[in-house]
Amino acid sequence: MSEIRKVGVVGGGLMGRGIAQVCAAAGYETVVREVNEELLGGCLEAIGRQLDRAVEKGKLDADVRDSTLGRLSGTVSLDDLADCDLVIEAIVENIEAKKDLLGALDRQNPEHTIFASNTSSLTVTEMGASTSRPDRFVGLHFFNPVPVMKLVEVVRTGSTSQETFDRAFAFAKSLGKVPVACRDNSGFIVNRLLVPYMLDAIRGYEEGIGSIEDIDTAMQLGTGYPMGPFVLGDFVGLDTLYYIAEIMFDEYRERRFAPPPLLKRMYLAGYFGRKAGKGFYDYSGDEPVVSDFVR
Ligand code: CAA
Ligand code: NAD
Repeated sequence: MSEIRKVGVVGGGLMGRGIAQVCAAAGYETVVREVNEELLGGCLEAIGRQLDRAVEKGKLDADVRDSTLGRLSGTVSLDDLADCDLVIEAIVENIEAKKDLLGALDRQNPEHTIFASNTSSLTVTEMGASTSRPDRFVGLHFFNPVPVMKLVEVVRTGSTSQETFDRAFAFAKSLGKVPVACRDNSGFIVNRLLVPYMLDAIRGYEEGIGSIEDIDTAMQLGTGYPMGPFVLGDFVGLDTLYYIAEIMFDEYRERRFAPPPLLKRMYLAGYFGRKAGKGFYDYSGDEPVVSDFVR
C-alpha cells in the first residue's frame, strides 16, 4: 500500500473542520469537501480563526499557521478527492447519506485509497460492506473539539485488513493523537458509556432531580468532569445526540439508549445546541442562560 500523503475530509461541520485542521497541521495535504460554497466558506473561516487565535495567544508561530493553511484547500466537488490516499467522512449521522457518499467515492477513487468514517454510533461494517473495499475500511472516531481532544478510536470490522488497521492507527498517532483499538460495536468505547449518561441526565431532569444548572454544576464539581451533561449535549449538538440515541437504541433495544421525549422535542423544534445558538442554554447574550424551551 502506498504512503498517506493526501487526505480528503468530507463534511466541514463541527467535526470535519477540526479533523481537516489537525491533518493539515500534521503535514498532510488536506482537502475538505462541503455541500455548498457558503458552508465551505464557514468551515475554512472557522479553521483560520482557530489558528489565528493560537498565534495571538503565543501558542503557534505565524509561519506554522501559514504553512498549515497552505496545505489546506476546500472544495464543493467530490472529484477533488479522487487522488486522496485516505478519505475521512464526517457528514451527518445518517446511514443512507453516508452510503450514498461512500458509493460515489468508491466509484471514483483508486483501489489504494483507504476510507474511514468518523461515525459516532453507526455500524462501520455496514458502511464498509456497501463499498468494494471493506478490507480498506475503518472507523476513525475523533472527539469534539478535535484540535484539543487527544483520543481517536480506531475501529476495525471483521473485514478490515490488518494492514489497513495498522496504517489507520499509525495515521492517528502521526496527528499527535492517542489511538485506542475498538471493535465495531455501536458507540465503540466512549459513546457506549457517555451517551447513556447524557440521556440519563435528561431523564433525571424530566423526573425533577434538579434544575438544568444544578445538574450541570453537580456533575462538574462533584466528579471533576470539564462540562456538565447539558453543556456537553449542547456542545456535541442535540441533533447529533438525538440521531446517535435513535441508532444505539435500535441496535441494543435497551431503554438507557432511548432518546428521552424532551430531547426529541428539542430536536424537532430546532434547539440543536451551541451551533444553533440555543439548546438547553441560550447563547445569544454575553453569558449562556437556560433556554426558554426547558425553563
Ligand atoms: N475548538 C478548538 N479548540 C478549542 C475549542 C474548540 N471548540 N474550545 C476550546 N478550545 C481550546 C482553547 O483554545 C484552549 O486552548 P489553549 O489551552 O491552547 O489556549 C483549550 O481548548 C482550553 O479551552 P478553554 O480554556 O477556553 O476552556 P476549557 O478549559 O473549559 O476547555 C474544553 C474547553 C476542552 C472543550 C473542555 O471543556 C472539555 O474537555 N470539555 C469536554 C469535551 C468532551 O467531553 N468532548 C467529547 C464529546 S463526545 C464526542 O466527541 C464523541 C461523539 O461521538 C459525540
Ligand atoms: P455537523 O452537523 O456539525 O456537520 C456535518 C456537516 O456535513 C454539515 O456541515 C453538512 O453540510 C455536511 N455534509 C452533509 N452531507 C455532506 C456531503 N455529502 N458532502 C460534504 N458535506 C456534507 O455534524 P458533526 O457534529 O460534525 O458530525 C459529523 C459526524 O461526526 C457524524 O457522523 C457524527 O456522529 C460524528 N461525530 C460527532 C461528534 C460531535 O461531538 N458532534 C463527535 C464525534 C463524531
